[in-house]
Amino acid sequence: MNALKYQSGFGNEFATEAIAGALPEGQNAPQKVAHGLYAEQFSGTAFTAPRSTNRRSWLYRLRPSVLHKPFQPMGKNLMQTAPLTDAVVTPNQLRWDPIPFPLETADFLDSLVTMGVCGNAALQSGVGIHIYTANASMQGRYFYNADGELLVVPQLGRLRFHTELGQLDVAPGEICVLPRGLKFRVELLEEKARGYICENYGAMFRLPELGPIGANGLANPRDFLTPTASYEDSEGDFQLIAKFGGQLFAAEIKHSPLDVVAWHGNYAPYKYDLAKFNTMNTVSYDHADPSIFTVLTSPSEIPGTANADFVIFPPRWMVAEKTFRPPYFHRNVMSEFMGLVFGQYDAKADGFVPGGASLHNCMAGHGPDAATFDTASNAELTPHYLAATLAFMFETRLMIQPTRFALSTEALQNGYWQCWQELQKNFVL
Ligand SMILES: [Fe+2]
Repeated sequence: MNALKYQSGFGNEFATEAIAGALPEGQNAPQKVAHGLYAEQFSGTAFTAPRSTNRRSWLYRLRPSVLHKPFQPMGKNLMQTAPLTDAVVTPNQLRWDPIPFPLETADFLDSLVTMGVCGNAALQSGVGIHIYTANASMQGRYFYNADGELLVVPQLGRLRFHTELGQLDVAPGEICVLPRGLKFRVELLEEKARGYICENYGAMFRLPELGPIGANGLANPRDFLTPTASYEDSEGDFQLIAKFGGQLFAAEIKHSPLDVVAWHGNYAPYKYDLAKFNTMNTVSYDHADPSIFTVLTSPSEIPGTANADFVIFPPRWMVAEKTFRPPYFHRNVMSEFMGLVFGQYDAKADGFVPGGASLHNCMAGHGPDAATFDTASNAELTPHYLAATLAFMFETRLMIQPTRFALSTEALQNGYWQCWQELQKNFVL
């Protein structure tokens, strides 16, 4: 039996059983599994993927995954998938207030709205960016996503993810990643829950290489937590929902699909406390590029050019001498979707609030607002601790298409552009 809820490490060969002796020893698929369980392989990469990136787990469960009635298309919700059929593109900088909570009852899945997408889910490239605003737990229904893995960034309210491979409790300040295909349901541990999701169609998130940083730093593998096995043995009239090819489908299922009693392998969900990020930065002058804050990266086929990066701006010391310390003005081939979990982001005096978001697309100029530029240009450069703040960025090499919802919601700040208009020409000869 597992005494602990979590196992530590990133991408490890984990082994866990909720009933002693359920996990076969010495082979994956014995002729008969202990306790009458079925053996099932759950692969997250091609069978022939290189050993360093190959991910699969062996599940020992009450019933195999094939046991459900046929899927039928569901009505559409506000969750969308790349490529959009009604694409709107704009080079403008965009910013949103927090998306309001629905007045009606909405669980995690009901409440998902898509803010932007890029790439093509069918080609396993790009991402979808969603926000959830849930006020109810998922009851009697389970979900899996064939289009990508889900990186969840809670902003408000704690969540419990009941998954095939065990339970993950995730609070604001933490993240979790649910692998492509993993079945789960979401329980709210508080009245309401809001947060951001990066649906990654591409290569699964991994830790970035560290190069000259050395063997330690940024997000350390031991701080990632993967659940130990736990299972539901329940029967009833349940629903299994699949996101497949950008559409939602529902199937009747007469039992809980979260019935894995034991499993071993390296394809599994995980959580990470962002407070454990070992932040690196300059101790002399100027800025490192924001890539120094990369927690997880989804590589593309082009070396060093991510399909998606998950980057955070955590509490940290600011010590750079002779330096404009907030993020500098820039334009970038990469597209940047930002959110704020709590506190204040150091490049904006106001307007970018917890639960809100911004999108600075490919080559869109952006940077500190006029008030921040003025303050930071004249600040005394003593060491300063940037406390109680947590902003993050989903960054991708692909141009992000905002959805029609994102461009029509009342949360869109139509006057965002004005935050830069007070920047004066200070040129003197
Ligand atoms: Fe930026």
